Amino acid sequence: MKSYKRSTITAALPYANGPIHIGHLAGCYLPADIYVRYLRLKGEEVAFVCGSDEHGMAITMKARKEGVTPREIVDRYHEMMRDALAGFGVQFDIYSRTSSPKHAEVASNFFQTLYEKGVFEARETDQYYDPEAEQFLADRYITGTCPKCQAPGAYGDQCEKCGSTLNPTDLINPTSTLSGSAPEMRKTTNWFLPLDKLAPELRTYIESHPEWKSNVYGQCKSWLDAGDGLQPRSMTRDLDWGVPVPVEGADGKVLYVWFDAPIGYITATQELFGADWEKWWKDEDTRLVHFIGKDNIVFHCLIFPAILMQHGGYILPQDVPANEFLNLEGEKLSTSRNWAVWLHEYLAEFPGKQDSLRYALCATMPETKDNDFTWADFQQRNNSELVAILGNLVNRVMVLNHKFCEGLVPAAGSAPEDLEALAAIAQQSAKVSAALDAYRFREALTEAMNLARVGNKYLADAEPWKVVKSDPTRAAEILGTATQIMAALGVVFEPFLPFSAAKIRAMLGMGLADWSLLAGTRLVPAGQTLSEPALLFEKIEDEAMDAQRAKLVKPSETDSQPMETPAIPAIAANIDYDQFAGLDLRVATILDAIKVPKADRLLQLTLDTGVDRRTVLSGIAEHFTPEEVVGRQVVLLANLAPRTIRGVESQGMILMAENPETGKLEFLQPGVALPAGATIR
Ligand code: MF3
Ligand code: ZN
Repeated sequence: MKSYKRSTITAALPYANGPIHIGHLAGCYLPADIYVRYLRLKGEEVAFVCGSDEHGMAITMKARKEGVTPREIVDRYHEMMRDALAGFGVQFDIYSRTSSPKHAEVASNFFQTLYEKGVFEARETDQYYDPEAEQFLADRYITGTCPKCQAPGAYGDQCEKCGSTLNPTDLINPTSTLSGSAPEMRKTTNWFLPLDKLAPELRTYIESHPEWKSNVYGQCKSWLDAGDGLQPRSMTRDLDWGVPVPVEGADGKVLYVWFDAPIGYITATQELFGADWEKWWKDEDTRLVHFIGKDNIVFHCLIFPAILMQHGGYILPQDVPANEFLNLEGEKLSTSRNWAVWLHEYLAEFPGKQDSLRYALCATMPETKDNDFTWADFQQRNNSELVAILGNLVNRVMVLNHKFCEGLVPAAGSAPEDLEALAAIAQQSAKVSAALDAYRFREALTEAMNLARVGNKYLADAEPWKVVKSDPTRAAEILGTATQIMAALGVVFEPFLPFSAAKIRAMLGMGLADWSLLAGTRLVPAGQTLSEPALLFEKIEDEAMDAQRAKLVKPSETDSQPMETPAIPAIAANIDYDQFAGLDLRVATILDAIKVPKADRLLQLTLDTGVDRRTVLSGIAEHFTPEEVVGRQVVLLANLAPRTIRGVESQGMILMAENPETGKLEFLQPGVALPAGATIR
């Protein structure tokens, strides 16, 4: 593998049209920050650049809605976004903005260079124009009757009632939303990037990166392989908010937001390094990595590289580890419907608990497919993992060191069990490294937590609190060993939980974190003075979670529009193999079924499990009559603790599949009839 001198790491410039929510954080800023912190720990040279994307329709629409200028909108949200990301410890070297004069100059020069090279194709097209407002109308500024479903109020690009994709010219009785007048057709010239002609070069580039995440590589390939291939795309727009197009005859036109925004990364780098910026973008020994969400893939993997190639002199993105989307409590995050967890609100409501959210979001990061964030999972991860595993180990080590070792770091032992525990430092951190190198953040986090698990198990087995009574020297060795593991946790968790890792290191009087320490077994010198134990994590109570859930308003409660797709719940948090192995799943045959009196939903089943006959109550009475189920084979969770319901003891549970579209339950039956008692694994 090629080695690099330095890395330029970017995180997508968020549109400055609203505050940032957990979907943004989990999708892009958190993985980028974890990765950058990791590179820095390894002593690598890194520039981490970001900023606000302040042009485009997202901004002008929001301004119109509020009746204010685009400038007011971007000024408001630029600061809010910057502060929220900083509040979560996202450590950009610069957080810039694309509405600055400097950026206008950089983006404008870029366009000019391509223009002079003859890259663009000027094309005249027909577009709606509002004679009263004296401007061309973007698709979203035209409404009319939907030609497909006849609903009024469809937009020029889409009907929200029936979901059809439209062209502005499809609308019946088009109206300008700017003035309410009927728009007229006018000819306009725009400059197109001929992606069709550049496709062969782009294909070569993409196909030289089969190592990219499959969701990213696959999406690029499907754009390239699409029936009509890549299409020329206009790099200019008839709008008045944006970077003016720097060529003659382009009055009243601005650069397409997806032309100027990625160049914002370059502007930010120039602001950061001044005259010394070029090596970050032009040196073949620099690695350029873009962290983004999946809706940005085509822009970062095809359009921006095409622009860079045509300009010449620039390196191309070496990797684009895009994430999929995060859902919230089983539904799509939505800014307009307020179905979101806003970072600024979390910071105010859970002060000092940034790491709890970083942890839960990293653990449920939508790396390869969409994933679901729930407050129940957040609480469980905080209470059963951060508090009970990591916090517990650190607290025990600190308290025992103060109690038995005068608050000094004791020397680690060298008994076989000590050496084995200490060896886990290098082993686990190597696993964390390997996972981070491959952008597998969830796995990296699990392996980091496994080191804390090793520490807890070591202490529980060695029992220094008992040993101290008969052999204080040995007890000190045990604590010394555990202290080194705690120190390693202060390094290995630095990318994920920077606030807590810093506290761990401070308790031990460690200096700056450095990944190379993890290769050894003595991260803190014996005899060093410890500070007082600091609280790392606090249990989060049910009430706080209920309050958060209550803040969410179901989309169906705010408007009457039909949901586009029924919600398929996202995949739940991972479980250990051991947890799975604990389930005794069997094929059982239903011998008899009766309705449970006064319980509309319950059937009382008599099952042959191959081992015994037993009674199981099942909530399927609304879907099946007793006659329909007798004789069927089912999957039985046979070792579920018995429960008495309506005076009947239910000895296990049968598993059914739920049709997400209708809610109807269906049997899970083996493909062929099996003897009852067959195991399922
Ligand atoms: N503002 C875009 C979004 O939120 C992302 C822009 S990324 C950049 O989807 F590369 F264009 F800057
Ligand atoms: Zn419609």
